[in-house]
Amino acid sequence: MLKYIRIFDDGDLKPGKSAIIEREGEEIAVFNYKGKYYAMCNKCPHKGAPLGEGRIEEGVLICPNHEWRFDIHTGQCPQNPELKVTMYPVRVHKGVVRLGVEDKKSVKGGAVGKEEKKVPSHLKVTIPTIVKPINPDETL
Ligand code: FES
Repeated sequence: MLKYIRIFDDGDLKPGKSAIIEREGEEIAVFNYKGKYYAMCNKCPHKGAPLGEGRIEEGVLICPNHEWRFDIHTGQCPQNPELKVTMYPVRVHKGVVRLGVEDKKSVKGGAVGKEEKKVPSHLKVTIPTIVKPINPDETL
């Protein structure tokens, strides 16, 4: 069963930025792409690079290591439809951004990173410096 946990307030993660949320040893990359939030497993299915440090071009997330591509909306690889990154639902309600996760795990850990004061103390959040798109027409 899905449970929605608070990750930060709307506005904490600016458009074009990503955050890596650690929960029970599992990392989830959260992106603000053009004002909407998307969350996916932070581990690239190729060799495990942190997808939260990738760049996004025209709705496609590009892995920082070997540039495998994944649709930011679906997690699907456009070149190989059988390849998909796990996506997590994100909800924004009354100014709070919540991440949908399976309810089977308890939440542990401590908050770190630039937004330390704004995130709940039960989550570890890091804000990586993501690479800007190469396409000069693309705005995040
Ligand atoms: S680790 Fe992501 S493409 Fe190789």
